[in-house]
Amino acid sequence: MSLMEWDGTYSIGIKELDDHHQHLFMLINRAFDGYNRGMGDAAVKKLLDALLEYAAYHFSAEEMRMGEDAYPGIEEHYRQHKLFVDKVAELMELYKAVGSSILTSTLMFMNTWLTRHILQHDREYARYCLEQPTAPKRPTATA
Ligand SMILES: [Fe+2]
Repeated sequence: MSLMEWDGTYSIGIKELDDHHQHLFMLINRAFDGYNRGMGDAAVKKLLDALLEYAAYHFSAEEMRMGEDAYPGIEEHYRQHKLFVDKVAELMELYKAVGSSILTSTLMFMNTWLTRHILQHDREYARYCLEQPTAPKRPTATA
């Protein structure tokens, strides 16, 4: 069974970001499945590195949009992304010391962080976009 199941509750109504989030779910599941299937440490670490690279790309794309939209919550949002990056860096340091046993907790942390972050912080930004009195600069709605 997959660690993360995507469903409509995670959609924030901004297609680009929904696509990114779905891709992150898929990458987390892929690393989790690989670990559970007994894939070697090096292979799982490679999947994790790809996941972190994509997360960094996603965060910067999201922050760029927020800047373009003059989103007042951008500083707090940036801080939330940094919490994720710092925590994962800490877990990766532990990985060097204790090995692959840390991978499950790393993926569990990502699962919890990402779902909460989408439902609270990303949704807050999506709400702000909808409430803007001016027409959006670009099409954002999925519906
Ligand atoms: Fe975000």
